[in-house]
Amino acid sequence: MMITVGGFGSTVRSNPMADSQTNLAWATLLDIGPPDGRRRLHDRLAHALRTAVRTGRLTLGAAVPPSRALAEDLGCSRWVVTQAYAQLIAEGYLVARVGSATRVSWTPHTAPPRSAAPRTPSRPPIRYDLAPGLPDLRSFPRRRWADAVRTVTGSAVHYDLGLPDPAGHAVLRTTLAQYLQRSRGAEAYAHSVSVCAGITDGLVRTCRALRAEGITDLALEDPGWGRLRDAATSAGLRVHPVPVDHDGLRVEDLERTPARAVVVGAAHQFPAGTVLSPARRARLVRWARAVDGFVIEDDYDAEFRYDHHPVAVLQGMDPSRVFLLGSVSKTLSPALGLGWLVAPAAMTRALRAANTVAAAPPVLDQLALATFIDRGWYDAHLRAARRRFRSRRDLLVHTLAIHMPHSRVAGTAAGLHLLLHLPDATDTRAAVQAATAAGLRLADLDDYRTEPSPQRALVLGYGNISDTEIPPAVALLGEVLRTAAPRPWPDAGR
Ligand SMILES: Cc1ncc(COP(=O)(O)O)c(C=O)c1O
Repeated sequence: MMITVGGFGSTVRSNPMADSQTNLAWATLLDIGPPDGRRRLHDRLAHALRTAVRTGRLTLGAAVPPSRALAEDLGCSRWVVTQAYAQLIAEGYLVARVGSATRVSWTPHTAPPRSAAPRTPSRPPIRYDLAPGLPDLRSFPRRRWADAVRTVTGSAVHYDLGLPDPAGHAVLRTTLAQYLQRSRGAEAYAHSVSVCAGITDGLVRTCRALRAEGITDLALEDPGWGRLRDAATSAGLRVHPVPVDHDGLRVEDLERTPARAVVVGAAHQFPAGTVLSPARRARLVRWARAVDGFVIEDDYDAEFRYDHHPVAVLQGMDPSRVFLLGSVSKTLSPALGLGWLVAPAAMTRALRAANTVAAAPPVLDQLALATFIDRGWYDAHLRAARRRFRSRRDLLVHTLAIHMPHSRVAGTAAGLHLLLHLPDATDTRAAVQAATAAGLRLADLDDYRTEPSPQRALVLGYGNISDTEIPPAVALLGEVLRTAAPRPWPDAGR
């Protein structure tokens, strides 16, 4: 192996039998610098060693190489190394013992003592998780996912292990296009699908492309998921909140904004849980055509619809005006970091051009997802999850009715969360704080609004709580509401 050591002006051939990592590590660690005409070589080596000890790169007790070995690696005489070591021994940085390696004997006094490390404030342990956002992590299909990973690790061709296509592997794009056509009624083809790390990542990519096409203003639903707003602003767009009512996004309000693009949860708005009505869908598409703009459809949990068939995507109404974003975050796990983006044909080039440095998810994970879907395991998983969530939702609604008869639930037809509307005087913020302190995680609807509203509601997720935990969790919530927000909760449910 050839190593060039800056400063010696020589290229040395290290012993091929020696540990090349070690050689490289020492050459890198000891930055001897170029010859400066003033200091001799052993002084420069001593300086490099001293700096390494002072900055903590060489720590207390670490052995330095035998002088002969280091001299050989650095391509200098052994005398240079012994002089440098002697200097540092004299200064107290190194200690030499007969029959043992020369070692570092000093530790930087600037290093913070262990006990001074900043402490993270301790949080109360979570007993019950009613926060929205997660699917049932206990039922992640570990065995089948592991089978899919094992299969593709064995079958991937050499080419697959090379530089990935930033738009995603062709096999997964084809599989996703077929899946989205048959299960979501989308108009999708392999060339219009990009693989991304999730909906948030898909939105960042879309916003970059819109920005490059001269679109500067984007509308978002209010209430809505804050990370989508962050994604849009990180891509340089100005954002405009648009209210939502029982028919979904108020398109008439959208029409009054300067936005030429809008993000909408058409099948199941987060967190209101509404479905965009047929009249609003048609009006939204007309708006996009009129402003020469785009709708970005957030299809985050539409697979879970309990009392009717899933609502088909809006994208099918006008694929030239609608971007479709989806992911496995609500169906399998957000930890997989796998999602998709279907772009209008006229925007695929702009999308690629605006995202040349975006990294696609790991190729083996992409291929594993393709296998998981192609073998029918994704559909089977969704069928089982839908059954499980439907009965869990029924249990939650029933238990809430017993413990909190003054409340009203909404948004129960689909998804993994519902809204618990409470009497107007309820202090939901205090209730969430008290619940957190008692080990119950949940969310205040106001957390998703740009402005607080007089209508009080909690957002309760039931994806990641077991059925047996629901009765005690709801009983605890009732208790919390009676103590933290006492006025409207005299003896509710007792
Ligand atoms: C409204 C909404 N959209 C999208 C997502 C999913 O985002 P991602 O696919 O980036 O995990 C979430 C996750 O909580 C969400 O609440």
